[in-house]
Amino acid sequence: MRHLKLDTDAQGVALLTIDVADRPMNVLMPEVEAELAEAVARVRADAGIRGLIIVSGKANGFIAGADLKEFVEAYERKTTQAQGAERSRQFQRLFRSLETCGKPVAIAMNGLALGGGLELCLAGHYRVLSDNPKAVVGLPECGIGLLPGAGGTQRLPRLIGVENALPMMLSGRHVKPAEALKLGIVHELATPGEEVAVARRWIDSQPDPRQPWDKPGFRVEPASVFIAETRASTLRETHGNYPAPLAILGCVAEGVPLPIDDGLEVEARYFGQLLAGPVARNLIRTTFINRGLADKLARRPKGIDKAPAQKLAVLGAGTMGGGIAFAAAQAGIPVVLLDSSGDLAERAKAAISVRLAQDVAKGRLAQDKADALLARITPTADYALLADCDFAIEAVFEDAAIKAQVIARAEAALPATAVFASNTSALPIGGLARTSLRPGQFVGMHFFSPVERMVLVEIIAGQETRPETLARTFDLAGQLKKTPILVNDGPGFYSTRVVNAYINEGLDLLTEGVAPALIEDAARQAGMPVGPLALADEVGLDLGLKIARQVDTLEAGRSRAVATLDQMVRQGRRVGRKSGTGFYDYPEGGAKRLWPGLAALYPPAAEQPGVEEIKQRLLYAQALEAARCVEDGVVTHMPDGDLGSLLGWGFPSYTGGTLSLIDTLGIANFVEACERLAARHGVHFAPSAWLKEKAGRGENFYPPVV
Ligand code: NAI
Repeated sequence: MRHLKLDTDAQGVALLTIDVADRPMNVLMPEVEAELAEAVARVRADAGIRGLIIVSGKANGFIAGADLKEFVEAYERKTTQAQGAERSRQFQRLFRSLETCGKPVAIAMNGLALGGGLELCLAGHYRVLSDNPKAVVGLPECGIGLLPGAGGTQRLPRLIGVENALPMMLSGRHVKPAEALKLGIVHELATPGEEVAVARRWIDSQPDPRQPWDKPGFRVEPASVFIAETRASTLRETHGNYPAPLAILGCVAEGVPLPIDDGLEVEARYFGQLLAGPVARNLIRTTFINRGLADKLARRPKGIDKAPAQKLAVLGAGTMGGGIAFAAAQAGIPVVLLDSSGDLAERAKAAISVRLAQDVAKGRLAQDKADALLARITPTADYALLADCDFAIEAVFEDAAIKAQVIARAEAALPATAVFASNTSALPIGGLARTSLRPGQFVGMHFFSPVERMVLVEIIAGQETRPETLARTFDLAGQLKKTPILVNDGPGFYSTRVVNAYINEGLDLLTEGVAPALIEDAARQAGMPVGPLALADEVGLDLGLKIARQVDTLEAGRSRAVATLDQMVRQGRRVGRKSGTGFYDYPEGGAKRLWPGLAALYPPAAEQPGVEEIKQRLLYAQALEAARCVEDGVVTHMPDGDLGSLLGWGFPSYTGGTLSLIDTLGIANFVEACERLAARHGVHFAPSAWLKEKAGRGENFYPPVV
């Protein structure tokens, strides 16, 4: 056996060590399962073995789960529901054979046991968990669009009750040792290193080698009211966009009242449905695989030494500049925070100080840490202080002339080797770089608001941006713990362009007489975190207008949206959320409300469209704009497009992102739908010849799995 080792001692206790070859952590995959089946058969058949202890051969935990590669490819390989169900049954048969092998089985868990790893443990008769701070157990499958299909949905509720098991499976949360013991997921905690000895003591006590559910008279409290309430709240939260939580509810409601083998069959059927559908593929690919690659800076130009920023200049101490300075100071980088007056810069630092004080008061931050962080920020209006900064980020007003002035003054003060990045929302980097003395060192570094919460940063390569500059920008993104995507230049680059398409579609609906509450609600039902009108307010209507004027030159027939924003700004509804007036009112201390004045400006039509139609328009407008970004060469790497949409503005994760949404439908179907929308709602929905040709060739955005 390559991954497993079975040793039996003189007293007839077998020790099965799992140490999956060539992997940093133990994962379940067919090869490992086959060896496990062989080991179980040997234990069952060998009369000299009176008990089994299963341990991990890796110091970093027990088993991290099943290998995701298999599951992400299942959809591409056109796995059917029946085949998916059969995959679940393979796991189930293996674990069932373990718990019915006739010998007591103890699991000595030295740490982390997640997903299939925990499901294996649940098939043991006795679980001992190491009481160490890194040890966690959990069933996180729901988060990747699947369910615990190796018996987890059946054993966990039978073990700890439906009311404990269901929330744990729906949230996928990690449970620490003390709670695992309290809930009854494990029987005993052990001092780290003592797990096997504790397991051994249990085996020596000559226990009954049967599971509770295999003993006569076993039953679980039905909890039907709890299940019904959980189903209702799940539907409210997910709007039915995510099949996995509903499938888990189905497994528990239908399977747990039955004998275990029948319950497992219910689980297998639901698992098959999920594995054959696109949502699991979308969630795994985008949130795990693409995200992992981005975090590992896979797009950083190769062969260039790492060069972390030593001292950062932030030019413009407003919303974004303040946030960037805060993030940098938090990462240990000294920051010169410059604004047009010393007062304004001081004020930005004072705002950071207030936030830190709140964190200290709430016990989230130690006073000395807060002091050190604050001491790293030097507020000023004096450009001479930039003399030793090796990286500068500009975040002044969105105005090309003002930016040009700031670039010139800063470059005169900065060292000749410094990188200069602009946080512009939409001005082309090439245009700004023309005002720079060193266009090779000029780059776009587009953060999202609020900077401390949003993990995405969009790096924009101008035509002249050198690879060394990009590498240093990636390095800074890494220092700031942001997830970078890399796109090419153009008005609005990628994210602003697509967000603009979303807001514009919302504004179109408004001017067509669709009730604003209906627009906003449909957007949330589609899975967007905020409606297009609320998002326009977040951006600020005056900034939105500037952006729309920049970006809309790309699209035909878009002047209507510019006109709407213009009209709102002329009504004095200017700065959205910041000023308390936009499409919404923001009463002090109260929740935001749609501005009643909207009804007079955009009278609702007598007949309103259906929610599905609005949802489709809002999502497809974004997806189509993302496809145009690929066509224009702004997005060259599909994961950048998908990840940018998920992390940048919360495009719903069940779709996998803007481009995966199209791939899931198939480009040909998407093109057809857009043509129908174009006929009814305007040429901005017309798919390009390029996209139609791609559809004609039967291509996808992502290459097929071979
Ligand atoms: P803001 O209005 O809050 O801050 C701009 C700051 O720049 C102000 O403190 C202002 O005093 C300062 N400033 C203006 N002219 C200056 C000069 N000549 N020298 C030095 N400082 C000067 O604006 P915000 O929202 O922080 O935006 C800044 C930049 O970031 C803009 O280019 C914007 O498009 C971009 N951006 C904004 C996002 C947002 O959500 N607010 C998101 C991503 C990018």
